[in-house]
Amino acid sequence: MNVLVTGGAGYIGSHTVHELRNSGFKAVVYDNLAKGHPGAVPAGVPIIAGDIRDRDKLARAIADHKIDAVAHFAAASLVGESMKEPAAYYNNNVAGTLALLDTLLAAGVKKIVFSSTAAVYGEPAVWPIEEDMPTVPTNVYGRTKLVIEHMLADFAVAYGLAYVSLRYFNAAGALVAGTIGEDHAPETHLIPLVLQAALGRRDGVAIFGTDYPTADGTCIRDYIHVTDLAAAHVLALRHLTTGGGPKIYNLGSETGYSVRQVIDQAKAITGAVFPVREQARRAGDPAVLLASSRRIKAELGWQPLYSDLDTIIASAWRWHSTHPDGFREFAPAPQQP
Ligand code: UFG
Repeated sequence: MNVLVTGGAGYIGSHTVHELRNSGFKAVVYDNLAKGHPGAVPAGVPIIAGDIRDRDKLARAIADHKIDAVAHFAAASLVGESMKEPAAYYNNNVAGTLALLDTLLAAGVKKIVFSSTAAVYGEPAVWPIEEDMPTVPTNVYGRTKLVIEHMLADFAVAYGLAYVSLRYFNAAGALVAGTIGEDHAPETHLIPLVLQAALGRRDGVAIFGTDYPTADGTCIRDYIHVTDLAAAHVLALRHLTTGGGPKIYNLGSETGYSVRQVIDQAKAITGAVFPVREQARRAGDPAVLLASSRRIKAELGWQPLYSDLDTIIASAWRWHSTHPDGFREFAPAPQQP
């Protein structure tokens, strides 16, 4: 089966491309390379440098590669930036997905797995979070993803689109071999920032808020290994190709760790010593985000295999410590026009 992976050169997309290949799917990456890294894509996988809003290029890619289904990662995904540049986020994420869906339907492709986010829940009052709890996003990024979920549901009813929307909690870790991993510019996520501090690439780490109503006063998150996320995409594609209908699933480890626990564990694994500064809260951070992933476990048989904190941090450390400059060390891969 031929799967178009939009955003397939990005962090979660590229790990999914690896998993698709290991599972016998043929992946074709479609990525505008604004943030993605061709070096993250396994050799032999075609990379088409294109934007999802470029309907002609997209239609050509779908036809040329006889695409059967899509895994849709392409999106802008920084919460802070989304508040300052909402137009760019609605344009890239919402208008981009509309262009993608129009083009897919015109080509008769009706199967799509969508990258959604825990940010659709906003600041939930109860944990663990179940899929049918209220969706009240508190930032533009989360709102764009929720609008797309509504779009998918409406298209399913009207046009027979079959979709699975996967709401990721905190994606983290790297391919266990350490050959690819996270490389964002700017980096805003906790685990890569801590590991860059461990490498001496940063002058320490800031804790954003120590007065949350949690055991140690810092925010609790549900970290989920990127390879476990990737495996869920394979299961979702199998669900769709065996006639399965629309589904929404949380993807989390169902275990919460505080910011302090993450930093302490990173210090233990790396053996590094670096300064930790306590700072004010970062605007918009909920105190606790913790998933229930009961639904996808029961319905698709998903089981996270790498999402204990040790494996997450050790795999990320393998990547960062062997590639301190990220993908800048990689020779550019050949791209298709
Ligand atoms: N944090 C720090 N210091 C830092 C960076 C982060 O203390 O230097 C804290 C944050 O305040 C938060 C936790 O570490 O409590 C995790 O922060 P991340 O930025 O790594 O991740 P977020 O939970 O903010 O964001 C993630 C995804 C988003 C998604 C969001 C859902 O990266 O795409 O979950 O709420 F929208």
